Amino acid sequence: MFKRKEWIEVVYPRRHHLGLLFLYLIFVFINTSLIGKANGLLSVILLLMSIYMHYKLVKVYMKRNKSKSKMIERQIQYMIHTLNLYDEEYVEVTKNNKASMEKKICRVIRIYYKLDHRKVYVRVYRDGDRFTKISSSKEFYESLEAALGMELEKAIKNIRYIEFSFLRYKDKRINVSTGTKLSQGTKVMITESLSYDVSKVSHGLTVGSTGSGKSFFINSKILAYAQMSDKKYNSWDGADIRICDPKASDLYLYKFVTGFGPEKVACEPNLIAKMIREVSELVEKRYREMFNDISSFGKTFVDFRGYPPVVIFIDEYAALMKTVDKKNKEEIEKHLYNIVLKGRGCGVFAEIILQRPDASIIPGQIRDQLQVRTGLSNLSQEGKQMLFGSTDIEYKTVNVKGGGYIFIDSVTEQPVYFETPFISKDFDFLDEIDKIYKKRLGIN
Ligand SMILES: Nc1ncnc2c1ncn2[C@@H]1O[C@H](COP(=O)(O)OP(=O)(O)O)[C@@H](O)[C@H]1O
Ligand SMILES: [Mg+2]
Repeated sequence: MFKRKEWIEVVYPRRHHLGLLFLYLIFVFINTSLIGKANGLLSVILLLMSIYMHYKLVKVYMKRNKSKSKMIERQIQYMIHTLNLYDEEYVEVTKNNKASMEKKICRVIRIYYKLDHRKVYVRVYRDGDRFTKISSSKEFYESLEAALGMELEKAIKNIRYIEFSFLRYKDKRINVSTGTKLSQGTKVMITESLSYDVSKVSHGLTVGSTGSGKSFFINSKILAYAQMSDKKYNSWDGADIRICDPKASDLYLYKFVTGFGPEKVACEPNLIAKMIREVSELVEKRYREMFNDISSFGKTFVDFRGYPPVVIFIDEYAALMKTVDKKNKEEIEKHLYNIVLKGRGCGVFAEIILQRPDASIIPGQIRDQLQVRTGLSNLSQEGKQMLFGSTDIEYKTVNVKGGGYIFIDSVTEQPVYFETPFISKDFDFLDEIDKIYKKRLGIN
């Protein structure tokens, strides 16, 4: 493992290690004089030793110069140089009893960096000088991106500094085609390097305006749940998936997919309320069965045989809450709260999808339990606040369909930029899931 190092200051202008050069010259001098004095076999041995030592020294020097850390420092030094991120002033110098004016660097932008195996972090101090304004600009982080040749992941600003983190390796979007696995055991794959295990973190909230890619993302989540498996006991295959689509639009079509049918897909408000209640009752039933004695302490559903994950997707949650009557609304909120509060341990999950983030729609105590929070496309200030709370992150503009920010409790430190699994035009989700269930049920 690459150990996260301490902050290193970027020194500008670059220091040349004359001391080292001097030592090296002394070494060469002693060496040659020794070889010159020796004779016969001894001089040959000394010569070979000297060649070997030179070889080693050159290797160490090259390695040091080529090290990622040194390269980063040099790239930042070069950026400081080209963007003039230093101030000069004339100072009087006396040479050979003659006074003259010479230009000297008196102030340099203060930059520190460090790196780990995944990211490069750059801290730019805000000292109240002219660099403070420059470092807050879009051009500045773009220049850093260009200088490092890495993509900005996020920037966090506080009174003392701005901290940028850059991804050393671009996170790859998953390409979904026939047979692509979007889960492993109970782990859901989000990108090539980002995943989460529903037995540890679960319940999702996905927010995004029309056309931002919510349905595509939810379809990949459904596929991931459909492909889950019991790694420990091999006692189940695929999750028990339920879908609520109050607008009877995209997800409604799952009604026609093998393994789903009308009892797993609800569109009408009463039926949706009923479905949420049933799932909440299932939480209670599982709780009674699983956690009935002391031996169950600290266990989750994956530690028991025969409990596949159960997940209920609720699309257009805001629209649903606006159409149901008061009684149903209270019922839904009560049961949903029970699911998100107690469902994690016993493997019952809720996935809520919203078009417009509206804090009044999802009570804080429910929201706080939704550990996988996604905002697709560019969210409003209110949206960011609702999904991610008050962070001092600077979000970059999302231009890619299916791009957005995701926060996964205890997996990502902060909301991070990501792109949902990419679905090509000729990939048919319903058909793919239909095939999975047909195979599972032994239907041709
Ligand atoms: N992951 C993705 N892969 C490929 N295309 C996508 C993806 N996400 C969104 N798109 C494109 O954007 C369009 C809108 O996405 P959709 O999921 O229907 O948005 P929403 O449900 O938020 O209104 C899709 O028809 C598709 O062309
Ligand atoms: Mg949609």
